Amino acid sequence: MKELILYFSRADENYFGGSLKYIEKGNTEVVAERAAALTGADLFQVVPAKPYAADYNTCIEQAKKDLQSGARPEVEGVPENMSQYDLVTIMYPNYCGTLPMHMFTALEQLDFKGKTIRPVCTHEGSKMGRSEADLAKCCPGARIKKGLAIQGSSVDRCENALKKWLEE
Ligand SMILES: Cc1cc2nc3c(=O)[nH]c(=O)nc-3n(C[C@H](O)[C@H](O)[C@H](O)COP(=O)(O)O)c2cc1C
Repeated sequence: MKELILYFSRADENYFGGSLKYIEKGNTEVVAERAAALTGADLFQVVPAKPYAADYNTCIEQAKKDLQSGARPEVEGVPENMSQYDLVTIMYPNYCGTLPMHMFTALEQLDFKGKTIRPVCTHEGSKMGRSEADLAKCCPGARIKKGLAIQGSSVDRCENALKKWLEE
């Protein structure tokens, strides 16, 4: 069974244990790279055509605005040959209770019929939020497994939980 890890992640300023700090690699990217090393899956990053702001507060405003207006912000690309994958692990940060709107843009362009999806959400308290239900809506025909929620500020300690979940 060939696997793709499709993920969204943002570096720059974010909250870690109650304080803001700048990071060079997003939390979800850390998890995605670890999962790829464990499974041998292909990796594809969904990259915004126009990234949200580097500063946290502006980024929150932009993400909220896109969510509230149901925007589908442009992305740089989506995987070209989805038919080769049976299993797609979709990884994303929890943005205001669901996936970042850029992920909706990407997912709605892809055909998930007959595929198995494994959701992984990094978060700062809201766990999966409503992301699994939203995934079911925008990936019709897919079998969606129970997701894994990982606290973003603890990604460095996720190895065991991730490994166990990937093996299930
Ligand atoms: C725009 C934005 C909205 C967020 N909304 C939530 C939220 O509603 N609930 C939550 O638990 N965490 C929220 N967070 C925290 C992120 O989900 C968390 O830091 C995540 O690990 C970031 O992943 P990344 O570094 O891969 O982008 C939000 C962060 C940002 C930047």
